[in-house]
Amino acid sequence: MELTEAVLTRRSRKDLAEPAPDTAEFTALLQAAASAPDHGRLRPWRWVLLRGAQRSLLGAAFAAHAPAPARDRAAAKARRAPLLASVVFAPRRDTSVPEWEQLAATAGVVHSLELLLHDRGWGSIWRTGREVDSPVVRETLGVAPDEKLLGWLYIGTPPPEQQEQSEPETGEREEGGGTSTQGNGAAPGPRAALRPGAPRRVPKRTAPVDALVSTALPPYPPSAGTAPAASSLRRRSAS
Ligand SMILES: Cc1cc2nc3c(=O)[nH]c(=O)nc-3n(C[C@H](O)[C@H](O)[C@H](O)COP(=O)(O)O)c2cc1C
Repeated sequence: MELTEAVLTRRSRKDLAEPAPDTAEFTALLQAAASAPDHGRLRPWRWVLLRGAQRSLLGAAFAAHAPAPARDRAAAKARRAPLLASVVFAPRRDTSVPEWEQLAATAGVVHSLELLLHDRGWGSIWRTGREVDSPVVRETLGVAPDEKLLGWLYIGTPPPEQQEQSEPETGEREEGGGTSTQGNGAAPGPRAALRPGAPRRVPKRTAPVDALVSTALPPYPPSAGTAPAASSLRRRSAS
C-alpha cells in the first residue's frame, strides 16, 4: 500500500475478530514504528500484550473498577479484540528531554504502529477509559508508580465490509443543526447525512485541518528593543 493511501484509508476498527498478529509480527511492526520522532531516542514506553485467557484477567480488573450492575459489561470490554496491546508510558527521568516530549514521541509510535498494522491488513483502535487509572488494572498489568497507562491498542481482523468505518475528515462543518460543505454553496438538509454514502457529520468541536494551519507571521520586530542586529540578519540570509 502506498504511504499516502495508508494514511488516508486507516480508520479505527471496533469490530475485531481472530486472528491477530502473533508476537513476532507485532514486535517487528513495533520496531518499525519506533522510528517515529523520539527526542534522544529514549523509547519511553513499553507494551504489555494480552491474548486469549489473559484478557479475562484484565476483564476482571475492569469489572472490579465498575459499579455492580455494570460489571459483566466492563469485563466483556477486554474481549473486544483478540490482541490487547497495553501502552505503558515509562518516562525517563535521567534526561533533559521534558516529559511532554516523551509523551508526544510515544503517541507518534502508537500512530505509526496503527498505520503499519493497517498496511498489513490488521485492524486496530486505541482505547482508554477511566480504567487506565484504576489501581487494580495497573496492578494487573504491572504498571509501576512512575509509569502511566495510556490505554490499549485493540488489534485483530476487521470484517471485510467497510460499513462501520468512519470517513476521513473532509472538512464539512456542522452548523446550526445541519451540515454544510465548504465551497459548493449547496447546504444539504438535516437528513442528508442519513443518505447512504453521505459524508459523516463531523462533531462541532472538530476544526477543519486548514483552520489549524497558519502562514501569517506576527508583526516583526515585536518591539524595537528585541530586534536582532542587522548584521545577524545578513549572516542568516547569506547562509
Ligand atoms: C489517546 C486516545 C485515547 C482514545 N480512547 C478512546 C476510547 O476509550 N474509546 C473510543 O471509542 N475511542 C477512543 N479513542 C479514539 C479512537 O482511537 C479513534 O481515534 C476514534 O474512534 C476516531 O477514529 P479514527 O481513528 O478512524 O479517526 C482514543 C484516541 C486516542 C488518541
